[in-house]
Amino acid sequence: MAYLALYRAWRPQRFEQVVGQEKTVAALCNAIKEGRLSHAYLFSGPRGTGKTSIAKIVARSVNCEQQEAGEPCNQCSSCRDINNGNFMDVIEIDAASNRGIDEMRDLREKVRVLPAQGKKKVYIIDEVHMLTTEAFNALLKTLEEPPDSVIFILATTEPHKIPETIRSRCQTYHFRRLTGDEITNRLQQAAVTNSIKLDEEALLLIARRANGGMRDALSTLDQVYSYKGQDISKDDVLDVLGLVDELYLAELVDALLAKDIPGIIASLDLAMSQGKEAQHLVRETAFYLRDLLLYSVMGEKAQLMVVQKAALPQLQRQSREAKRDMILSALRIMMETAEKLRFSEGNRFLLEMAFLELAELFSGQIPAAAKPAASAAPREKKAVPAANPQPGKSKAAAAKGEADPAWNRILAGVKEKRVPTYALLAQGSLLGIKENTMYIGYKKGFNFHKEKMQEKANREILEGVLRDLYQKTIELEFILLEDEQYNDIVVKKAIEFFGQDMVQIKD
Ligand SMILES: Nc1ncnc2c1ncn2[C@@H]1O[C@H](COP(=O)(O)OP(=O)(O)OP(=O)(O)O)[C@@H](O)[C@H]1O
Ligand SMILES: [Mg+2]
Ligand SMILES: [Zn+2]
Repeated sequence: MAYLALYRAWRPQRFEQVVGQEKTVAALCNAIKEGRLSHAYLFSGPRGTGKTSIAKIVARSVNCEQQEAGEPCNQCSSCRDINNGNFMDVIEIDAASNRGIDEMRDLREKVRVLPAQGKKKVYIIDEVHMLTTEAFNALLKTLEEPPDSVIFILATTEPHKIPETIRSRCQTYHFRRLTGDEITNRLQQAAVTNSIKLDEEALLLIARRANGGMRDALSTLDQVYSYKGQDISKDDVLDVLGLVDELYLAELVDALLAKDIPGIIASLDLAMSQGKEAQHLVRETAFYLRDLLLYSVMGEKAQLMVVQKAALPQLQRQSREAKRDMILSALRIMMETAEKLRFSEGNRFLLEMAFLELAELFSGQIPAAAKPAASAAPREKKAVPAANPQPGKSKAAAAKGEADPAWNRILAGVKEKRVPTYALLAQGSLLGIKENTMYIGYKKGFNFHKEKMQEKANREILEGVLRDLYQKTIELEFILLEDEQYNDIVVKKAIEFFGQDMVQIKD
């Protein structure tokens, strides 16, 4: 089954075809109609929300031979050439691919040459935040004195990385994430046009997972179609995306709340036997917990990602049973586990330990091994984190999981054998296990502990504990971390998972 390349076929060709971004569209369309476009624009906003599409509409419209009410005709030779990339005066630069040094140098020379073919030269610089400092400087020189016949459209997903000197010379438009309805409408049109039958739940699922990006929604539809053909159910989407059903997750969380350990292990077994990956399970559970948290705060107004209709009654009940600070801590554990799994390539042990830790958490107990030993220097508190982390705490520290199942078990094992070794090890943190090597990180200032831990006597104790736990020989690697490096990894992962917005609410 071939790809339909839906996202390309469904690129809006006229302003009126753009979904959402109403203010941007109206402002640009009017400016073109009235011949008062600026010299430079900055389009900022999330992936796949229409930045490049609108830039190209502008490029065509200003060069169109029969432009009407600000819209390009898409028929004349200029419009067609621009669409085929054969138009000399529309120059697209992808700053991500070569960081733009040559282009920007070139630009300074060529920008003053009048348009060869059309009325205006339009430079579209995509991913502009990737330009090097020299390239930015060259661009700035041009923006300071832009020739009349030139329009710059800079597009970026990361506007904060663009120097203020550049930003202040551009008119900025912010592109918003598209709503669920906007995405489902467009998806449905694309499906109907291609004789794809998408059932309601499948449609909703794809739209929600796109997180406001139209490109992602269309590519997902494409991907599911190419595997499953023209009849698409919710299960098909779950399958292709490696997702887990909402009812499964609801039951897993029920088992967690009930501290039903055999139930938890059985659920995990079931998912693994169906070929789900540990990393996906952790990610999906995190998404479910995120839904639970939002629902408990906002009720019906929450925009849920995983839960649609089927699991809603369970989610409602759970939102009354589970305390918010517990859910938040559970989310942190899941995020940290996801990070470990990245190093450990699907380690089943980590998965089970994380879920057992969650069960402990929800039953209101703190695992014994997590209590700091009297002899150890003060570690970050391991008790259940408060609902409002202290204001002084950095975002990194807040997002870092504060409980760590695998590590707790290892520490407990070492402590049983020799308390001084435990005290040294307790200052480190488990970074992960990969190809039979365990990586243990020590923060700056703990070099002494690291070196001591590397000594044969201490190392052998740890190796023994690991052999007992993992039933095999595991090599050790001790790493001295730069200050916040470890936290940074976890936070980065969290942002990948939830988007910037979600991570910020943890402050
Ligand atoms: N606002 C929108 N209306 C209709 N379709 C859209 C919209 N935004 C994106 N799309 C669809 O997604 C595809 C990609 O959009 P586009 O290239 O304009 O996104 P972008 O914002 O430039 O993303 P990126 O930041 O990843 O470059 C388009 O071809 C189109 O199919
Ligand atoms: Mg783009
Ligand atoms: Zn035209």
